[in-house]
Amino acid sequence: MPEQITLSVIKADVGGHVGHTVVHPDLLECAYEELADSDLLEDFYVTYVGDDLELIMTHRRGTDDEAIHQLAWNAFAAATEVAKELKLYGAGQDLLTDAFSGNIKGLGPGVAEMQIVERPSEPVIVLMADKTEPGAWNLPLYKIFADPFNTAGLVVDPSMHDGFIFEVYDLIEGKKIDFSMPEDLYDMLVFIGAPARFVINSICRKGPDGGKGDIAVAASTQRLSLAAGRYVGKDDPVCIVRCQSGFPAVGEVLEGFAHPHLVGGWMRGSHNGPLMPVSNEDSRPTRFDGPPRVIALGFQLAHGQLVGPQDMFDDIAFDEARREANQVANYLRTMGPFEPHRLPLDEMEYTPLPQVVEKLSDRFVPIDEDA
Ligand code: 13P
Ligand code: 13P
Ligand code: MG
Ligand code: MG
Repeated sequence: MPEQITLSVIKADVGGHVGHTVVHPDLLECAYEELADSDLLEDFYVTYVGDDLELIMTHRRGTDDEAIHQLAWNAFAAATEVAKELKLYGAGQDLLTDAFSGNIKGLGPGVAEMQIVERPSEPVIVLMADKTEPGAWNLPLYKIFADPFNTAGLVVDPSMHDGFIFEVYDLIEGKKIDFSMPEDLYDMLVFIGAPARFVINSICRKGPDGGKGDIAVAASTQRLSLAAGRYVGKDDPVCIVRCQSGFPAVGEVLEGFAHPHLVGGWMRGSHNGPLMPVSNEDSRPTRFDGPPRVIALGFQLAHGQLVGPQDMFDDIAFDEARREANQVANYLRTMGPFEPHRLPLDEMEYTPLPQVVEKLSDRFVPIDEDA
């Protein structure tokens, strides 16, 4: 029986310092101590992107394991207490209930997990973003796993040439569908081009029978607003990507972020903005609470140990992407409260906007077609 290892990335915003900017070091330390005290884990790394506290963990217990989810919950709950003590902003923001019950999914935190057999060399990249939503991964994952202009391996590497299978969730209807690349490419784009509703949950290598083979990607798909039934912030997402030897090369994965695309979730979770690739240290969204940030931490897995991280966007090669993001941000800001800088109304249904509509309902009268 080959040795299985599970990689679990679980995140929550349990308080920002200052406002929605970054995670306070005391919260990182608190979460670190909670995980260090546990004997469930093979290894772990605690970090942040903007105001989101990120737990990267390896263990032998499989995905959706109650004890691992409980451990993450306990770390977030303990960090929330520290956040309350420091009166940080939005202490406990993403914890929708007071008590843990079985599985952390649906309780507020974002979760990406995969169980794998470690290859002779197992490079993985953990992508983490702030001021955006799970659909933010759609465009780069499409490029990385289905666009030969991004990923040379789709053309020149025989082990990737057959393509990948994307599992896509419809978050409104609660349904999922598999798309096989490249055959279903045009069909898939109909859906994933609408990332507020359709999000990529996982990607697998195509097996010899054309079915799902080894898992390549696991992403978080939780949407807090749908879970809570009211607006409670965007769901700053995470994503695990395996690289090399039949998967995209590390550089092909990072290339997916070379041109900042527009994502929802900037300022009050109600604006579109460019997703700026930055170093861990630069994931400090200050301008109009943004622009949205993405970091990429690289690890080599070795017998369950997380060898790393390498801070992958901490590279001058991404300076131009950052400059482009700043230019796009400048341009979009000139539009202020107008779409498409502001999100469309149906994406803002949990904001005070319906209250304004309600207040003015009497003043809205039928248009007199004869006048
Ligand atoms: P692998 O086929 O081992 O993934 O190597 C490809 C590569 O790294 C080219 O950049
Ligand atoms: P977060 O979702 O990162 O907490 O940001 C909320 C917000 O409203 C920022 O303007
Ligand atoms: Mg916040
Ligand atoms: Mg956040």
